[in-house]
Amino acid sequence: MIFGRVKPLDAILATAEKKALHRTLGPIQLMLFGIGCIIGTGIFVLTAAGAQKAGPGLMLAFIIAGAVCIVAALCYAEIAAMIPVAGSAYTYSYATMGEFLAWTVGWALVLEYAIAGSAVSVGWSGYFTGTILNQFLGISLPPWLSAGPLALGGAPGGLINLPALVIALLVTWLLMIGTSESAKVNAVLVAIKVAALTAFIVLTLPAIELERFNPFLPAGMFGGFGTGLGAVGAAATIFFAYVGFDAVSTAAEETKNPQRNVPIGLVGSLLFCTVFYILVAAGAIGTIGGQPIMGPGGVPFPAGSEELARQCAMPQHAEALVCSNEALAHVLRQIGFSGVGNLLGIAAFVALPSVILVLLFAQTRIFFVMSRDGLLPEFLSKVHPKWKTPYVVTAITGVAVGLGAAFFPVGRLADIANAGTLYAFAAVAISVMLLRRRDPERQRHFRVPALWLVGPLAIGGCLFLFLNLPTAAMLMVPIWTAIGLVIYGLYGYRKSHLGKGRIEVHELEIEDLEPPVPGTE
Ligand code: ALA
Repeated sequence: MIFGRVKPLDAILATAEKKALHRTLGPIQLMLFGIGCIIGTGIFVLTAAGAQKAGPGLMLAFIIAGAVCIVAALCYAEIAAMIPVAGSAYTYSYATMGEFLAWTVGWALVLEYAIAGSAVSVGWSGYFTGTILNQFLGISLPPWLSAGPLALGGAPGGLINLPALVIALLVTWLLMIGTSESAKVNAVLVAIKVAALTAFIVLTLPAIELERFNPFLPAGMFGGFGTGLGAVGAAATIFFAYVGFDAVSTAAEETKNPQRNVPIGLVGSLLFCTVFYILVAAGAIGTIGGQPIMGPGGVPFPAGSEELARQCAMPQHAEALVCSNEALAHVLRQIGFSGVGNLLGIAAFVALPSVILVLLFAQTRIFFVMSRDGLLPEFLSKVHPKWKTPYVVTAITGVAVGLGAAFFPVGRLADIANAGTLYAFAAVAISVMLLRRRDPERQRHFRVPALWLVGPLAIGGCLFLFLNLPTAAMLMVPIWTAIGLVIYGLYGYRKSHLGKGRIEVHELEIEDLEPPVPGTE
């Protein structure tokens, strides 16, 4: 019975216990690590797609998505501090809901990490072509090299997003040779990102014109099932801006006094970003306006659609926030701060690759653990003798991420990544509640306060956001799961180590690999 294949928690923990826990991280380091993973393409680029869906209601969207993330984060904190091993939601699900569901969760995490890596690469490409090539070097990349094809939601004349492909492959190569980002580099990048957003807020807030917020909800609160429009539709997209905080949970085992510091790190970094995001959205919309471009019947054109790309190519929309590929730099240039806008562009150019690195890193480690469990072919977890990295799986993941980035628009990619992430977050909340019931006595370094309220809120919040994604993104989860189940049926079910009765404590632990969790060493 596949549902009976539950990995014993003690075996999982035995693997973790083999290494001495080095508890060195305090609340500030944890928050810095969190902010480093969180702030990225979501705020720097997707602000435009969010405004196309919600107009000024984008500010509300940031609050809704932030609230769902905070309750989900608390659940992550409890289970990560309790099962401090690699594999994240996949491992937690293996220990609670069994191999079958764990496989679906691990498979959905591919959408979270790999597709998110593609999305951030496309976001980076917008700033690279706009700020670095165009503003500084005076080079205009032809449309066929700077965007995916129109039919996939790219720009008119688009064929391939070459910069996005190159950055994804470059980061992959760095990961393959074992490059990691030190805590110091992470702190510097966080400082750069926060300084850029602070400058944006300081320059835009005094220039706000209140009439720009009117109408506040041009597409309504709910845009209608499957449309992805309205404030909640925008929340489902902008949720992407918070993705990555779950990486903080992977550092739970290295945290001093986790009962206190893990929730401070998780909730603190999320709250910090939420406040910044709302102020940035207010500054962007209050200065140059963020009304959607309306289609027939007064309904906004879908973000990332061919119709919108055509509208954006028209001269009358050349300056619209919703059409910009480098939303925040564009706002600053429009209100007369071109120099600061360019500096913000440089900040995004410098800092976004580290977000790609963390996402790719997480993806390769999940694949590594799944292949070590026998659910994916063993050659994937092959470790390079010199680099000490799982180079095969890293290369395959990187090429796939690069291809996604080369051909698809950022908004579409983000929506798909969100769909997979929401599934994984809900699975984590369910796992926490199941473990509290089944194993109430086991030591927990952090307990979710009022779990029976917070847990269902997290599950309900994830479901709510999921149901407000555009239909195509929602459908990706069942389609992707169906593909995953075929692979499971043909391979994992028969090859599973647990299925063969092998419950193992691994000699090579994931922490022995290079690089370590980025930003924590
Ligand atoms: N939250 C990360 C970003 O916005 C993934 O880029």
